[in-house]
Amino acid sequence: MTLSKALADCAIKINKTMEDLLPEAMGAEAILLDAMKYSSLGEGKKIRPFMVLQSSKLFGVKEESARRVGSAVEFLHSYSLIHDDLPAMDDSDFRRGKKSCHKYFNEATAILAGDALLTLAFEILSDPLTAEDSSVRCQLVNFLAKSAGHQGMVAGQTIDLLAEGKTLCLDEIVRMQSLKTGEIFAFCMVSGGILGSASKLQLDALKKYAYGFGIAFQIVDDLLDVEGDIDTIGKPGGQDAKVEKATLVAKLGVEEARHKAVLLVDESIEALKLWGAEADHLRSLAQFVLERQK
Ligand code: IPE
Ligand code: IPE
Ligand code: MG
Ligand code: MG
Ligand code: MG
Repeated sequence: MTLSKALADCAIKINKTMEDLLPEAMGAEAILLDAMKYSSLGEGKKIRPFMVLQSSKLFGVKEESARRVGSAVEFLHSYSLIHDDLPAMDDSDFRRGKKSCHKYFNEATAILAGDALLTLAFEILSDPLTAEDSSVRCQLVNFLAKSAGHQGMVAGQTIDLLAEGKTLCLDEIVRMQSLKTGEIFAFCMVSGGILGSASKLQLDALKKYAYGFGIAFQIVDDLLDVEGDIDTIGKPGGQDAKVEKATLVAKLGVEEARHKAVLLVDESIEALKLWGAEADHLRSLAQFVLERQK
């Protein structure tokens, strides 16, 4: 099966699981569920759940478990985008080809929908339907908390905002990207290993793939901010230059930044050498990061 077909199949499956995990909007708080659905179902590429499904496959994990973990990550990712778009952060009015959450609803609803999506991720991971073994559930919760919180994505987002208009050195930018983007990809890869009782050697290889992938993914996101247009990328371009974000594209220029992404993808693919054809979709996914137009 081609990667694009596999990605499309995954998006359909994950949307279905996510829908099943979100109750109908009812009661005085109905707007909260509406906003959660508005910003998490539908248009996203669902690359993180795809990674969870693929890494789970390497270890023969039940698909139901992988789908639930993939949905949890996608809910958490959607929270991070809602908050990232807020006026206090990137102040972006469009996301995934439509108004961002705070523009379609209002700021308070967007903050609360983000809070609820973040906590929903942990509710799903801690549910016995995700994994029968409570120690597996505990490891998933612990790893996601670390990846998403003050030692992970939120730390990266803090540095990203503090760095606006400042000059960071190359290593500082790479560290920021690894935190804000790489950590969640690390969870995606490692979660399959946790569910499938991977060895330390295997877990290290999964992490290595994810960090290279994550930094390359963010470089390409930053390139698309320069080169893409809103109709294709679904969010306004030129945002990073406007507030002088510290990106590798600003630091190195378009050509050199793209070259760095290519090298990172090569390293990422190299990290999968423990596996054969069963990891081919993960290899293609890393290549796809370089070619993606949105
Ligand atoms: C956007 O992530 C945020 C970054 C980490 C660069 P995606 O490009 O995966 O966004 P969606 O989920 O497909 O909209
Ligand atoms: C956001 O990076 C990464 C997150 C952790 C949310 P960006 O700010 O570059 O993402 P976009 O371009 O708004 O999607
Ligand atoms: Mg941002
Ligand atoms: Mg942003
Ligand atoms: Mg961006």
